[in-house]
Amino acid sequence: MYRYNDIDQRMVDERVAQFRDQTERFLAGELSDEEFRPLRLMNGLYIQRHAPMLRVAIPYGHLRSGQLRALAAVARRWDRGYGHFTTRQNIQFNWPALETIPDILAELARVEMHAIQTSGNCVRNTTTDAFAGVAADELADPRPWCEIIRQWSTLHPEFAYLPRKFKIAVSGSLEDRAATRVHDIGLQMVRGNAGETGFRVLVGGGLGRTPVIGEVIREFLPARHLLTYLDAVLRVYNRYGRRDNKYKARIKILVKAMTVEGFAAKVDEEWRHLIDGPSTLRDEDIAHFAQFFEDPDYAARPGRTGDFALRLAEDRAFARWVERNTRGHKVAGYRSVVLSLKSTGSPPGDIRAEQMEAAADWADRFGFGELRVSHEQNLILPDVREADLYELWQLAREAGVATPNIGLLTDIICCPGGDFCSLANAKSIPVAEAIQRAFDDMDYLHDLGDIELNMSGCMNACGHHHIGNIGILGVDKNGEEWYQITLGGQQGEAARLGKVIGPSFARARVPEVIGRILQVYVDARAQGERFVETVERVGIAPFKESVYGAHH
Ligand code: HEM
Ligand code: SF4
Repeated sequence: MYRYNDIDQRMVDERVAQFRDQTERFLAGELSDEEFRPLRLMNGLYIQRHAPMLRVAIPYGHLRSGQLRALAAVARRWDRGYGHFTTRQNIQFNWPALETIPDILAELARVEMHAIQTSGNCVRNTTTDAFAGVAADELADPRPWCEIIRQWSTLHPEFAYLPRKFKIAVSGSLEDRAATRVHDIGLQMVRGNAGETGFRVLVGGGLGRTPVIGEVIREFLPARHLLTYLDAVLRVYNRYGRRDNKYKARIKILVKAMTVEGFAAKVDEEWRHLIDGPSTLRDEDIAHFAQFFEDPDYAARPGRTGDFALRLAEDRAFARWVERNTRGHKVAGYRSVVLSLKSTGSPPGDIRAEQMEAAADWADRFGFGELRVSHEQNLILPDVREADLYELWQLAREAGVATPNIGLLTDIICCPGGDFCSLANAKSIPVAEAIQRAFDDMDYLHDLGDIELNMSGCMNACGHHHIGNIGILGVDKNGEEWYQITLGGQQGEAARLGKVIGPSFARARVPEVIGRILQVYVDARAQGERFVETVERVGIAPFKESVYGAHH
């Protein structure tokens, strides 16, 4: 894990002091709303339906146990005892009082955290695979590169006022678990002919009003050129991106307008001025960043004992949890554990202070003091010995974070919707709860197998609904809340956008409609076929028919 040096720490501390002064001046009436607005947004502070909302960056989803405890302290002391993990690996606090924000930021700075660039038209938090560094299928560890990008992009003067926000995701594995194809830039680590590390570069992905799957603009970028090439892409965007229309300002619109080839050619032109320049990464720079992410001493705590196999055989509930909520590890005898933040009755992605504290304790006790946040809004303990899984499972169950539903229908990705967000067209949290209640039979859920259900409260698509196998979008019809359903979307290397099945539904009908869709799948699936594969094979017509009737 990266540790701040003196310069990092000073920068963050100075920002806290600066923002304290700005907040005090605003509260004293010396700054108007309009004057204060850009200042607060630079520090991740929105004004939402009920209260300010503070978005804190979790760089590439990595947390030390002490940082999670600090987040718990913030939730407990200055909020209502919980926080909300987002699809971009940030955490949001929904109820802090404005005058306390400087104190919150000071508390976060103490543990090397901040809210800088979590809002505004700048490069946002760089995201990655929640299993980075421990996944068995990894080509190379993306984390040092995420950290390099973080340092390059944080307070970069040239890219502080881009046409629109800018999101970068990096994946180090063949299976894309970082949703790189729906980011402004997606970086997929690949190996060159001589085994050297490089990146396949995708641009122009993004969800929101105009959802687009990103396209490749460079098949192989040698790693040392990462920053000069990113500089070139951002410069082209900064120069040609539209500033006259907010809805056409994202890089995806520019790439479409120029065509991918045209855009790539412009980037190459720009890159010619930068290649091999001062931002070229030297071997020693790369080694410097890599050292922060060296493996913990796995050998000191060997992972396997006979007990684990015995427990698996004896305890079905435990076996089920291991099957769904844990994942193979690159080191034999270890597994990564996904703590489910999707228990029925708790909004997806929400975590209470005591759950944060418990998870931090488990990270210390059963791991090496580290945790991850996934873009599916769950929390991960990356390094747990198989020998410790049974004990951890029991503790996680007591804390309410062991629902064995990872990757299943009830592991819903969901934005806060109309309960908190002032942009929402409809609520999403109660819909998620109604679905979780309607499908609470674990045997049925496990029989259905992998299904991603994603939901957003408006077309901004914070809940990634376009790439859910089942997507739900809240829409407004004459002041009433309705829900539109898409099918067949998926994330990953074969990312695609779902198709709308037809007219939207009243809220009360949503669980029943989902039930009909699932029944079509159950009836039509071939042996071992996943939901999304069946949708792909049979098309959306049978689903439509079942939901709207043949006459529709
Ligand atoms: C309540 C405060 C929030 C506000 C005001 C807000 C606002 C927005 C807006 C305006 C967009 C559309 C931007 C565009 O397409 O140019 C957007 C997109 C997005 N937001 Fe949020 N959001 C909020 C919370 C969240 C939460 C809670 C999540 C995750 C659960 C999230 C994750 C995202 C993601 C992933 C996108 C996708 C669009 C893209 O960039 O491709 N946001 N948000
Ligand atoms: S999708 Fe819409 S309702 Fe949901 S958080 Fe984003 S802006 Fe708010």
